[in-house]
Amino acid sequence: MAKQIDFGFQQVDWAEKAQRVKGVFDSVAPKYDLMNDLMSGGIHRLWKRHAIDTLGLLPHHQVLDLASGTCDLGLRMAPMLNAHGNITLSDINESMLSIGRNRMIDAGHLRAEFVVSDAQALPFADNSFDRITMAFGLRNVTDKQQALNELHRVLKPNGMLMVVEFSKVTDPLLAKGYDWYSFNILPQLGELVANDKESYQYLAESIRMHPDQETLADMFRTAGMTRVSYENLTVGVVAIHKGWKTA
Ligand SMILES: C[S@@+](CC[C@H](N)C(=O)[O-])C[C@H]1O[C@@H](n2cnc3c(N)ncnc32)[C@H](O)[C@@H]1O
Repeated sequence: MAKQIDFGFQQVDWAEKAQRVKGVFDSVAPKYDLMNDLMSGGIHRLWKRHAIDTLGLLPHHQVLDLASGTCDLGLRMAPMLNAHGNITLSDINESMLSIGRNRMIDAGHLRAEFVVSDAQALPFADNSFDRITMAFGLRNVTDKQQALNELHRVLKPNGMLMVVEFSKVTDPLLAKGYDWYSFNILPQLGELVANDKESYQYLAESIRMHPDQETLADMFRTAGMTRVSYENLTVGVVAIHKGWKTA
């Protein structure tokens, strides 16, 4: 039997997962930003703002935002860079990235670069970026360790990787309420607003299958990162993981 991997709570062939994930993001792309606001009550904006605030971004930095989707992070980071700095927005999915590109251009960020790429095999040279961000993308990648290895490879020495991702809620009582919300409200909201219940069922399931805070921190270390740390937001609904590449 072919090697299996989780796609939400289902087990699918290793080679099939990327296609299934592509189907999800092709489907959700047109309503992605609206759904994020509705599902989180706008809190995702605060998570993202806080994450960027803690990135230590300098105006001359070379930045990669991976799994950039509709470029929420890019829109926040681009104005922080000067003429020596640059930002590359990259995603495996053209539907998501083309919405992101339009948003960046509409906001006047004409120097940003856009690259369709798979986190597991990045088309960038070793030691290219001072900062790499990846928000709510790693969960969807088939081989997460391989993606982290690649991110470490393209990071410059003294550069920092930041992964923002759904994680494990630390309070058991709140975790029960969050589960109820995730499995009862999210798919219904998806059906109502985006006419797509399955993708939002996948969202809830994929969050539960994603490595918890400590496991992901260990994966950062396996990839070669040092000074690995994480910060829980909203009692662990989201965690910001950081790791550095040694000089
Ligand atoms: C939930 S969206 C996050 C978008 C954006 N970063 C944000 O925070 O709003 C996840 C993104 O990860 C992308 N993605 C999934 N698998 C990927 C892979 N293997 N390599 C690069 N991007 C991937 C999807 O196409 C999608 O755009």
